[in-house]
Amino acid sequence: MLRHSHNFQNILGKTMCGIVGYIGSKPACTIIMNGLKRLEYRGYDSAGIATIENGILVISKRAGKVADLEKIINPTELTSTIGIGHTRWATHGEPNDINAHPHSDFSGNITIIHNGIIENYLAIKKKLLLDGYSFKSETDSEVLAVFIGDLYKRTKDLEKAVRLALTEIDGTFGLVVMSVYEPNTLIAARRGSPIVFGIGEDEYIIASDASAIIQHTRQVIYLEDNEMVVINREGYTTKTIDNQTTNGEIHELEFDLKSIEKGGFEHFMLKEIYEQPSTFRDAIRGRLLIEEGNVKLGGLRVVADKLRNAKRLIIIGCGTSWHSGLVGEYMIERLAQIPVEVEYASEFRYRSPIIYPDDVVIAISQSGETADTYAALREAKLKGATVLGIVNVVGSSIARETDAGVYSHAGPEIGVASTKAFTSQLAVLSLLALYLGRLKNVSSIEGKRLAEAISAIPEKIQYILDHSDSIKAIAKEYAHAQNFLYLGRGYNFPVALEGALKLKEISYIHAEGYPAAEMKHGPIALIDDNMPVVFIATKDDVYDKILSGIEEVRARKGKVIAIASEGDTQISKVASHVIYVPNTLPMLMPILSVIPLQLLSYYTAVERGCNVDMPRNLAKSVTVE
Ligand code: M6R
Repeated sequence: MLRHSHNFQNILGKTMCGIVGYIGSKPACTIIMNGLKRLEYRGYDSAGIATIENGILVISKRAGKVADLEKIINPTELTSTIGIGHTRWATHGEPNDINAHPHSDFSGNITIIHNGIIENYLAIKKKLLLDGYSFKSETDSEVLAVFIGDLYKRTKDLEKAVRLALTEIDGTFGLVVMSVYEPNTLIAARRGSPIVFGIGEDEYIIASDASAIIQHTRQVIYLEDNEMVVINREGYTTKTIDNQTTNGEIHELEFDLKSIEKGGFEHFMLKEIYEQPSTFRDAIRGRLLIEEGNVKLGGLRVVADKLRNAKRLIIIGCGTSWHSGLVGEYMIERLAQIPVEVEYASEFRYRSPIIYPDDVVIAISQSGETADTYAALREAKLKGATVLGIVNVVGSSIARETDAGVYSHAGPEIGVASTKAFTSQLAVLSLLALYLGRLKNVSSIEGKRLAEAISAIPEKIQYILDHSDSIKAIAKEYAHAQNFLYLGRGYNFPVALEGALKLKEISYIHAEGYPAAEMKHGPIALIDDNMPVVFIATKDDVYDKILSGIEEVRARKGKVIAIASEGDTQISKVASHVIYVPNTLPMLMPILSVIPLQLLSYYTAVERGCNVDMPRNLAKSVTVE
């Protein structure tokens, strides 16, 4: 989507870890601690900070949360204006104080924070052990720190030592290096793990995610793979790790601080659910040509011919993004009559997929950093496919790897459970379906009808949100259930999957989604008077069949919660609870029917006392296999 040259890597690193580095005129400690808090949503299990105080490296690190780290530091004693901080998500070595970052070299004068995985760390460690070095932690990152220290001993040049080390290592890194030898310099580098470099007034801030930067500046450089930036108080230089100067194109961050704060809501997830009328509007803004019954997608202009001639589309993604791909399949096949396959990115990347030259592969990702999706995209590219992206995070790895694409413009999504990103992906997919349909057989009249229906969606989402009181009561009634079943057909089958995923992610209730007609092939055995079954039963051409399914559940004393179309007078006679949604075209219904399910899982999780925004074991972007 963004045009850049790349050196490819096979995997992304553990970028749910967070990086913050600061050099400027203010106390670094406060800025770094605030930055780490902004990155908490990514998931982590330990945190640490290092500053240079009167020529000495002062490092504090702790297993647990940033709040635990805060307890062991005294910001009034840390007055330095240069420093680095990190939140770690353990891969090599358990989450404890010692394995937490920053890690230092043998002398304790050079320290690093590192996201990523050093694949050849054992070989390097072996050599360093033979040379007499010892190690405190079990991490690959400490090996890199000691390696840089060893190279510094030989070169007496920090930048050169970093460059030499990075050319020797296999694997991935988002890295920041700081040393008392050069106390006014920070060096950051990237391969596979994002590094964003913010340029402020008399200050620079480096982070793994722009959320930690936006408070300070909007001017950023996204480092490329194998690129580094050397920063001192007078300025900065971007270059490759082979020492070739690079352009360092400056971008403007598009979101604002408000969008990464809770704004009066109890949780980010609830705020993000309530943002959907406006995020949906943002996703379609300037893209719908209602009078022409068409769509303008500037990001796809360069691949218009490829799309027109595509014999098949393959959509790849994970989790919620995979679910939106399934809805996209139904939409595109219906409107554009192009065969669509939707695959889990994790399966696609390993099963030697058959790709024809006329295939177009579309990667869907909120974060743009999901390792499986990135690797699958690379696989498709290697096999000659045109690769497109539907990505939320601007400048992310997946966005940069695609030939073209459409940003979903949902703004930063902080809650681990994806909500607004899903409906924005559906917005883009509906536009894409209309765009492809118009390239094929869809008439301008039909196109206009659809364009009007798409443009009416935000007020319908708003209506659902404004009439959602009953959902809280339903959540309360079923919060103690052990299991939930979600059933839907056609366009609403992926919504059933998404509803079940939402519930299990944040409330830890076991939930399964099925195509409703599959119930009788197995899941019906589960139904008794303890089993809540959510039916997405909106009025479409499979409505009668859904009603039969409801009867089957009722006959076995299951409790039916139905999502139904406004004006449906029949449904309340058969369902225990009904949540009504406004009418729209069947292909757009998933955008509405998913909203009550998001709220149902949210209120259930709250009722069960769960950590809604940071559910256990989950990270916002899954950047490891
Ligand atoms: O950032 P992505 O869209 O690539 O992430 C894919 C999944 O990891 C993600 O959707 C995950 O399933 C969410 N936790 C769902 O709420």
